[in-house]
Amino acid sequence: MSDSLLDEIAAVVGAAGLLTGSALAGRSAGIWSGEALRAKALVRPCSTAEVAAVMRLCHAAGQSVIPVGGMTGLAGAHESGPDDVVLSTERMQRIESIDVDGRSMTVEAGAILQQVQDAAADAGLYFALDLGARASCTIGGNIATNAGGVRVLRYGMMREQLLGVEVVLADGSVLSSMFNLLKNNTGYDLRQFFVGSEGTLGVVTRAVLRLHEAPPPVQTALLAVPEWSRVMSLLRYFDTGGLAACEVMWRNDYELNTGDFSDIEPPLTTAAPYYLLIDVFAADRDEFEDRLAACFERGDVVDGVLALSEAERQALWRIREDFEPEQRCFERVFGYDISLPIQRMEEVVETLGRELRKRDAGAEVFAYGHIGDGNLHYSIYPGSLSRDEVDALVYRPLAAVSGSVSAEHGIGIEKKAWLHCTRNTAEIELMRRVKRMFDPDNLLNPGKLFDL
Ligand code: LAC
Ligand code: ZN
Repeated sequence: MSDSLLDEIAAVVGAAGLLTGSALAGRSAGIWSGEALRAKALVRPCSTAEVAAVMRLCHAAGQSVIPVGGMTGLAGAHESGPDDVVLSTERMQRIESIDVDGRSMTVEAGAILQQVQDAAADAGLYFALDLGARASCTIGGNIATNAGGVRVLRYGMMREQLLGVEVVLADGSVLSSMFNLLKNNTGYDLRQFFVGSEGTLGVVTRAVLRLHEAPPPVQTALLAVPEWSRVMSLLRYFDTGGLAACEVMWRNDYELNTGDFSDIEPPLTTAAPYYLLIDVFAADRDEFEDRLAACFERGDVVDGVLALSEAERQALWRIREDFEPEQRCFERVFGYDISLPIQRMEEVVETLGRELRKRDAGAEVFAYGHIGDGNLHYSIYPGSLSRDEVDALVYRPLAAVSGSVSAEHGIGIEKKAWLHCTRNTAEIELMRRVKRMFDPDNLLNPGKLFDL
């Protein structure tokens, strides 16, 4: 990058908006990364107009730009190299307005998910996206990755929470589509190009978010389930009334997260192959208890615990969301995010465990995830196996069950090589054409999703 480009960017964003050289020291490459940020410069604009001006300058100079939000992504879409300009929305966190009657909120892209949730709650409403990285991830990143999380089965993914969006395109032009309309059948839904585009088609700068009426209080239970068929029937049973989250943990994952490497005491000591964590919106806890009792009577559940306070609720959720025990226990762990039909999950996980152990007796798969969405996560201790070997064992069987190599984390760079397992040649070729149309010079997040 020439000095003149740097100077021109500084003239747009001011000294505080442009970090280079030693000013970058201490900036990390992401919350999951132990590495330092690699970039020629970190640019921190304050408005759509500034993002547009920066993009115009970079476009004229042929400069690659990596847009980033909270850098919590799990597929590497925010990764940058020493020659890239990293464009962060961290100084664009404003919640601009809340329309209570229209049940929507207008925010800047750098708004933190948890702050958006809190602002909605303060207005007596509810923002339905929720995920483990809520305290760090941004709405812009949630849009760019079509984030999922724990409320999808009830409210859908990020794309369903998005009413309007403002985006700066690769050449610096602004596409503003800040509608607050649930229904708008006026041709192509341009917003959706950017949802899940992982920063390759434009930089999201503002959004209109859909809010819902605040749901009743949430009741949370952890259940020990003796068979997979009963996991499926419990999902259906609770989904007939207020089910807000339905998460599963295979036994070894539950034991790891309540064992010696964890500070959480196991709330259930009955061994079972599956543990189900459910959230149900229900004002009446007694009624929820009655429904649980019916599950015991049918033999769907062999043990269970109900959270009696918010602290207990959070403790139960931490068993599901905590990644520290595995990091303490193993020197390396590979993480996965896949979709597959619920009826095939038991068999697919069992086969994967067997195939791993065949190659290294110590290798182990810990499976858990958003069962209500058909979305599993794996944490895999690979033993002596390489990432490529484990990737092949995880991804290859998915084609046969019509699964997906990414349910909610995206493709980034981690899954580029496996995109073809889920998307056919015609689909990938059309995606390439879309990318070339939006960004003919391949300057926005180049090399992510697929190679051109
Ligand atoms: C979770 C992340 C890994 O569900 O998506 O915990
Ligand atoms: Zn998840």
